Amino acid sequence: MVNYKDLGLVNTRDMFAKAVKGGYAIPAFNFNNMEQMQAIIQASVETSSPVILQVSKGARNYANQTLLRYMAQGAVEYAKELGCEKPQIVLHLDHGDTFETCKSCVDFGFSSVMIDGSSLSFDENVAVTKKVVEYAHKFDVTVEGELGVLAGVEDDVVAEEHTYTRPEEVEEFVRRTGCDSLAISIGTSHGANKFKPEQCTRNAEGMLVPPPLEFSVLEACEKNLPGFPIVLHGSSSVPQEEIATINKYGGAMKDAIGIPEDQLRRAAKSAVCKINIDSDSRLAMTAAIREVFALKPAEFDPRKYLGPARENAKKLYKHKILDVLGSANKL
Ligand code: G3H
Ligand code: 13P
Ligand code: ZN
Repeated sequence: MVNYKDLGLVNTRDMFAKAVKGGYAIPAFNFNNMEQMQAIIQASVETSSPVILQVSKGARNYANQTLLRYMAQGAVEYAKELGCEKPQIVLHLDHGDTFETCKSCVDFGFSSVMIDGSSLSFDENVAVTKKVVEYAHKFDVTVEGELGVLAGVEDDVVAEEHTYTRPEEVEEFVRRTGCDSLAISIGTSHGANKFKPEQCTRNAEGMLVPPPLEFSVLEACEKNLPGFPIVLHGSSSVPQEEIATINKYGGAMKDAIGIPEDQLRRAAKSAVCKINIDSDSRLAMTAAIREVFALKPAEFDPRKYLGPARENAKKLYKHKILDVLGSANKL
């Protein structure tokens, strides 16, 4: 049993309260390896931003939960070494699917967990979320719940359609579970193909323009839960310049499309205080690696392609913090 406080990590409570009041959002970046972790920490230190390092089930399968936790512990020391006196780093379980998974993360030093009961019935979702909250709060670990279903791929669960969160349910859910933040569904989705072309229009240049997010649902949720921290998953913007680089150097990403950044800026000004970004980092790294492989086919030192991938991911993280979420200088 390890408590996150002994590792120098923090939970989300104060961070979210300040973000809701201040009209900005904390970046929640997924990490699976050392290069992503380094890029996230460098970007957050250079912008003086709090940050959430999040670990999915896929990440735990790929990299091992123990290694990822030690990397997060290392991240705190790394941030200090880079000149940040008091880093605010959360280690968060992304899309926890069972009480047991959440408990194992709490016991192992995570400072925040998500229990994703969004595919269950309302009452089942309440029951499992409440159980996680009761356990996590004993150790001052904060808990994110979810109501509403995002379209797209979440680990091995594929949802064809999203079901927007029902604003009339949010107050009861939060009251009955005691969760600290709530992920809602307003039209975002996971992955790099968030909308089918037939859901989009085309602009003058022939580029796909996605339908807008359902801000009326967000506003109604905020009205029913004044000042309560709201979370948006599936919030990558799928930068078209990265897609172009990937496709120029041998990739085949068709109709990739994300959430326009102006809509995320608008959300960040509201009670949305955590914005989840994973796919954009994957795209930034893939674009950089493909470019090296295409232009320097004799290169075989992983540092020579993972290094540029890390640099490109860092550029992306800084852009999100500085130009989209508004969390710079909030340490
Ligand atoms: O919510 C989904 C995240 O992007 C994590 O995806 O399970 O492939 O790591 P993953
Ligand atoms: P993206 O696929 O849009 O990056 O979403 C990531 C996410 O929601 C992780 O929980
Ligand atoms: Zn998610």
